[in-house]
Amino acid sequence: MCGIIAAASNRNVGKLLVQGLHKMEYRGYDSAGIALHQLDKIAHLRTLGKVKLLEDKMIQEKPKSKLGIAHTRWATHGEPSEENAHPHKSNERVYIVHNGIIENYLELKDYLKKEGYSFTSQTDSELIAHLLDFYLNKDKTMIDSMYMTLDKLEGAYAIAAIDKEDNKNIVVARNKSPLLIGLGTDEFLAASDPLAISQLTNEFIFLEDGDVAQISADDYVIFDESKNPVDREITKIDISNQATSKGDYKHFMEKEIYEQPQAILNTIDGRVGGDDVLDNIFGLGSSELFEKVKRVQIVACGTSLHAGRVAANWFSAISELPTQIDYASEYRYRNPHVDENSLLVTISQSGETADTLAALRYAKEKEYISTLTICNVPTSSLARESDYSIFTNAGPEIGVASTKAFTTQLAALMLLALSLAKSRDKNPKLRTRVVTAMRSLSDTVQETLKLRDVILEIAPEIASKDNALFLGRGIFYPIAKEGALKLKEISYIHAEAYPAGELKHGPLALIDEDMPVIALAPESEIAEKLVSNLEEVKARGGTLYVFSDPSISMDLKAGRLINMPKCDFLLTPIIYTIPLQILSYEVALLRGTDIDQPRNLAKSVTVE
Ligand code: M6R
Repeated sequence: MCGIIAAASNRNVGKLLVQGLHKMEYRGYDSAGIALHQLDKIAHLRTLGKVKLLEDKMIQEKPKSKLGIAHTRWATHGEPSEENAHPHKSNERVYIVHNGIIENYLELKDYLKKEGYSFTSQTDSELIAHLLDFYLNKDKTMIDSMYMTLDKLEGAYAIAAIDKEDNKNIVVARNKSPLLIGLGTDEFLAASDPLAISQLTNEFIFLEDGDVAQISADDYVIFDESKNPVDREITKIDISNQATSKGDYKHFMEKEIYEQPQAILNTIDGRVGGDDVLDNIFGLGSSELFEKVKRVQIVACGTSLHAGRVAANWFSAISELPTQIDYASEYRYRNPHVDENSLLVTISQSGETADTLAALRYAKEKEYISTLTICNVPTSSLARESDYSIFTNAGPEIGVASTKAFTTQLAALMLLALSLAKSRDKNPKLRTRVVTAMRSLSDTVQETLKLRDVILEIAPEIASKDNALFLGRGIFYPIAKEGALKLKEISYIHAEAYPAGELKHGPLALIDEDMPVIALAPESEIAEKLVSNLEEVKARGGTLYVFSDPSISMDLKAGRLINMPKCDFLLTPIIYTIPLQILSYEVALLRGTDIDQPRNLAKSVTVE
């Protein structure tokens, strides 16, 4: 993970670099650092902890500079510490920031030690500074040194480097980790994410794997992997300030929960007609392609994987297609057999998750009929490398815990289920029913948000416990899993999810008065069976919190029965997600955890 940013300007850059780091803290926040060129020397500041601490140090020391690089870290090699924080340096001359992993770092470290270099950190990144210095000392230019260094590196990287002997230029390089150039006014910038520099420009160039580029205050030049100068397309993206600030909310997560009605509208907008989904919403020719699809393979991670698990049910019920689903991190290692006319579907908020990207790249070598991604970031690697795509249009999601990204992924996956069904001429009446229900989905989500008052009453009971169990059946089992993930991620309460019928096969042994059980009980053909499962919990003294359809009656000794708003059954997973998000949020608030940046995590997981 990690976020890198670089700026070459005609004005002071310290403040804008730190502002950029703040916007990329979702990529990691265990330490931060900056290197600023000051003609005769380079100011080098690093702090353990969040970017705020680096900012405080900057305020004290007030370093002035028109050229600099900065970094916010999520530790991979070496614990979070000041020594392991970037930028790393070599011989007080070369300073670098790096995002990614150098796989052959041990071998390269040995080589550099033999050449007389000593290491001050435990990272895999420091060696990049030494390699650059090594080649610069052989009278190579920084660009040549960068190419020679990249020749030695195996793994993923986005790098920015400065040289004390050159106060005009920054050299950057990319391979399998995101990196872009920003075209500012009287300045050029580079960053891992457009968000980091969106207040300075709306014009970006997304570098490709193998690219090396040089930026100065007045110009930029890009070379491809064969060192030929190349023109890369300039992309315009407008990211409003409102989208990236908390507004009146306490946390980004809270804001993002409340943005869901609008976000869902944005996902559906322009993609459904009067009584059916519109053609080719996944790209030109997608409707024709879908006619041939016989099987779907989904790969994703975390919350996005849960969205995929719900969709697998929809593909079966609506599109009549068998679906296989894998953790992206596992998929490549099970030697997957690919049936004829299988469609590979990746799901990702960021579009930069390394495991998902690696799975896509692996799948492209296989016999899939095509690849398609459901993604929130149109400029991401996943979006660019997939044959077809649909963007969830949820707007930037900053809180590490995924909320609006998940519900909009579900809305987009429903559009995919409907599109596949339409192309395959399946279930026209059902399609019309679902499309009609989708039009009022946003209003139902809005109504569901009103449950916050009831949730506020139960949150203290959950917050005082160390464990929690989530139960759901069928299409609600992935929602129970998502509820458990959300709770453990931000409140650090140990939480697990089970299909309710599985309880009696083991987990029932865990039930006592200290184990709150949160159950999802919509009206369904297995509602009665679910109620029996819940009775088993009640009989063993468990405290039940049941989110249910008003038609379901249960006499709870302890706990709470919470009535959910009505909605078409196939869309209810989206509705039942909302109270679980609010519950996790309120519980975490009571436990005083760092809700937007929970410990040990990062928003965008760009390492495998
Ligand atoms: O960006 P992605 O959707 O590919 O990210 C995948 C997971 O890392 C992510 O969903 C993670 O599980 C969430 N932080 C959970 O809230």
